[in-house]
Amino acid sequence: MFDTFYMSGSENFEEKINILEKGAKEAVNQASDLARLEKARVKYLGRKGEFNNLVKELPKISEDSKAHIGRRLNSLRNDLEKLINEKLFELKDKLIKEKLQKEGIDITKPAKGFALGHLHPLTKVERRIEDIFQSMGFSIVFGPEIESEYYNFDALNIPKEHPAREMQDTFWIKNPKSEILNPKSHLLLRTHTSPIEVRFMEKNNPPLRIIAPGRVYRREATDASHEIQFHQIEGLMVGKNISLANLKAVFEEFFKNFFDKRQVEMRIRPGYFPFVEPGIEVDIRLNQMSNSKSQMSKWFEVAGAGMTHPKVFEAAGYAPGEWQGFAFGMGLERLAMLCYGINDIRLFYSSDFRFLKQF
Ligand code: PHE
Repeated sequence: MFDTFYMSGSENFEEKINILEKGAKEAVNQASDLARLEKARVKYLGRKGEFNNLVKELPKISEDSKAHIGRRLNSLRNDLEKLINEKLFELKDKLIKEKLQKEGIDITKPAKGFALGHLHPLTKVERRIEDIFQSMGFSIVFGPEIESEYYNFDALNIPKEHPAREMQDTFWIKNPKSEILNPKSHLLLRTHTSPIEVRFMEKNNPPLRIIAPGRVYRREATDASHEIQFHQIEGLMVGKNISLANLKAVFEEFFKNFFDKRQVEMRIRPGYFPFVEPGIEVDIRLNQMSNSKSQMSKWFEVAGAGMTHPKVFEAAGYAPGEWQGFAFGMGLERLAMLCYGINDIRLFYSSDFRFLKQF
């Protein structure tokens, strides 16, 4: 198209440069894909392109203007090259994004992150209970789940043929050594955490305060409130002049903390356990808030307890008559159920995420 111009002075030439600049920039800016961009590049900056056509005409320019026009052309080429490169980058980027979108990949989407697990509700409740008792000066101790007949029964004043054994039938473990009739070598899955009391006292002298959480086993039919395995928290406090009043105070303090702001009532009934005298059972009743009416729930048995029996001190090797102590065994599942309003104990072991996710 420039051939139609008659070339002479630098003004005309500058006008041509301006027209080229405008046309080239428009073509580059409007290129909507790589092919069109390449076409525009060849048309303007290609070897036989319009830019070079202009350069070829340079000799016709007067000497005075040559330097000026030369600089103008140089800077125009730089500008156009830069513009084309930017457009190239933009189009390639667009292409990648379209491809990702077609493949269903959205790179702007936030990363999924890791699904972090959390503690089981029973573990959470156990740790809370431990914290509260620790704040009252109790230490936490543990004992074996596979226990000997001796620690589970005999040392706790439950000799063979005692009816209490029938209430706590369990799973016995075949042990070749048990051919010899020695209750220390007969093995079973512990039916309660009370054997830890004797194990601890054998090795430690009073005064002492311990709690012992752990899993226990019973051979029984399962239903909404019974499982063949469950958890207890054993407690034992031994010292001088310990009485049921101390036991009551410790329980009251514990429940007040455990149920936090909820109103809780406690009731003590006589109960029988061969390893305490007197023995008691502890019930609690919670204030239930429903539709702005507050109402006390029914009584729930949450613990067996009592004053340590002299026979237990004897088994532990303590001098007779020198010490008093109280002991208790709380059901962990019971407390967790009351705490969270769960009505079926089997849910704890169901591995059902719909249940577990709620804690
Ligand atoms: N070990 C008893 C049970 O499992 C509970 C208990 C513990 C009772 C300590 C009195 C003292 O039923």
